[in-house]
Amino acid sequence: MTGQFPATRLRRTRASAWSRALYREVQLTPADLIWPLFVTDGTRVEQPIASLPGVSRWSVDLVVDRAKEALALGIPCLALFPHTQPERRSDDGAEALNPDNLMCRAIAAIKAACGDRIGVLTDVALDPYTSHGQDGLVDSAGYVGNDTTVEVLIGQSLNQAAAGADVIAPSDMMDGRIGAIRDALEAAGHHNVQIMSYAAKYASAFYGPFRDAVGSKGLLKGDKKTYQMDPGNAEEALREVEMDLAEGADSVMVKPGLPYLDIVARVKERFEVPVFAYQVSGEYAMIEAAVAAGAGERDALVLETLLAFKRAGASGVLTYHAAHAARLLGA
Ligand code: PBG
Repeated sequence: MTGQFPATRLRRTRASAWSRALYREVQLTPADLIWPLFVTDGTRVEQPIASLPGVSRWSVDLVVDRAKEALALGIPCLALFPHTQPERRSDDGAEALNPDNLMCRAIAAIKAACGDRIGVLTDVALDPYTSHGQDGLVDSAGYVGNDTTVEVLIGQSLNQAAAGADVIAPSDMMDGRIGAIRDALEAAGHHNVQIMSYAAKYASAFYGPFRDAVGSKGLLKGDKKTYQMDPGNAEEALREVEMDLAEGADSVMVKPGLPYLDIVARVKERFEVPVFAYQVSGEYAMIEAAVAAGAGERDALVLETLLAFKRAGASGVLTYHAAHAARLLGA
């Protein structure tokens, strides 16, 4: 119940910094952040990504350094994505099943260095491994097959879990993959390997720089609209989330982030489960472009956008600004 002016003046509690801190409804901390990292071959290799200024691909040894940096900053979890050598890509994405692939080597190296002190979340989808850049297997009609793809995703998940992944994060949007992967993990004894489902992932124009980063950009013909969601749909997102939860997802994700904050809020309100948001590459690039153009101040833009996810009900955010934000929050 809100009183009447002047007995009630809502500006009263805003008048000084101590009071604003005291009355702030949500807090952002480094523990809310998941840091996506791109892995590449070699040693002592850092490859800056032109469309993501400030973000690089790192060789496995340097990804381990990033993991130690995250630990020191209080970031609890990393999300790994591989930049697969073009010659290791194929129509069937078989490299995803190679126990010695880049992803598995990175997982194992981080776990060897940091153990259980940091979580490693791994992306499940075939786009870093296919010659056509689609997330699944393409049939003769050019359609990304559902059930055929799920079979491969099961193998990819088991491969990552065996290497030491803590959280399997399917980003492919095939139907039924959460249940299939959960069953396979249970059968293999990976009872405590979590699944964070990219449950409501939209066919978005904000993924461009990411495709650059994993090397899919020039390969992808067409789009991903037969599996990723239509941006006009919200009720369907709730159905996606409901099904993934029923199939055993430990948490769900909404992606992209800021343009879909309404979905984050609706999912949280409806299901009262851990919801994560992915502030994707195009969103990061927009902030950096605004800063470069003198249209905004980086630190303030980063902290305000990340706080918005918390306010909408997110348990945490995947963001390429994670280390920078954690540094600001720790200061
Ligand atoms: C692919 C995948 C994508 C992202 C995460 N996993 C791109 C896509 O669906 O084409 C995007 C992340 C980002 O843009 O930061 N399975």
